[in-house]
Amino acid sequence: MNSAPLGVFDSGIGGLTVARALFERLPREAVIYFGDTARVPYGPKSPETVRRYSAEILTYLLRRGVKAVVIACNTSTAHALGALQQQSPVPVVGVIEPGARAAVTATRSGTIGVIGTAGTIASGAYERAIKALRPAAQVHSQPCPLFVPLVEEGWFDHPAAELIAREYLEPLKRAQIDVLVLGCTHYPLIKPLLARVMGPDVTLVDSAEETATVVARELERRDLLANGAAHDHRFVVSDDEPHFRKVGALFLGEKLKQVEVVPL
Ligand code: DGL
Repeated sequence: MNSAPLGVFDSGIGGLTVARALFERLPREAVIYFGDTARVPYGPKSPETVRRYSAEILTYLLRRGVKAVVIACNTSTAHALGALQQQSPVPVVGVIEPGARAAVTATRSGTIGVIGTAGTIASGAYERAIKALRPAAQVHSQPCPLFVPLVEEGWFDHPAAELIAREYLEPLKRAQIDVLVLGCTHYPLIKPLLARVMGPDVTLVDSAEETATVVARELERRDLLANGAAHDHRFVVSDDEPHFRKVGALFLGEKLKQVEVVPL
């Protein structure tokens, strides 16, 4: 048993979709969530920059005494998971392998679509993770950089969002995928729109729940689970606390009580 907090981080707000799944799956765990709102978005930045930012956040979370770290950001997982795992004294879990696993379980045809930020798609991380699990899978990837600002703006079902989604997703429809991986933490908020555009034959997979399951298993295996009373969660951002509080409530489905500002 270990009552130290679990560290969860993202480039900003999006990782709250993963935090929400963790709160539900592991209600006894105290979570410190760090959102790098001063430097979001990570999607268009170089792998080196994303690795540097991610390492700085890891150092901060370790100083706060976390027992494990969840990278609740696809772009950071794509560029920095290996480096953080090497330098961290505590376990580090990312969102890509769990998402790939969920996709491989859900597909019937083996033709899988992946959408994400420019950085995530360019890294090829999802394709590698899917092919490691199912070598014969056909993977079609599509960067959708405009989705993040649309979601941040709260345009979940706006006609402009639908127009952009139709344009981005057309090649995936043509490729006849039967599973679409939402490879970005913001995308679960536009799930109804994406489902409408892709049609009923395509299963949408987001990695939040699968990641929470992997984290639970990892904590159990290492005897790190907390078994005290349910805990309050802490939220820390590097800038713009009012926006985080406002949009964060949409991601989390509840009000954010305490939000600290810590510029790294
Ligand atoms: N959190 C990022 C991800 O999941 C999206 C936002 C960003 O570009 O920083 O890839």
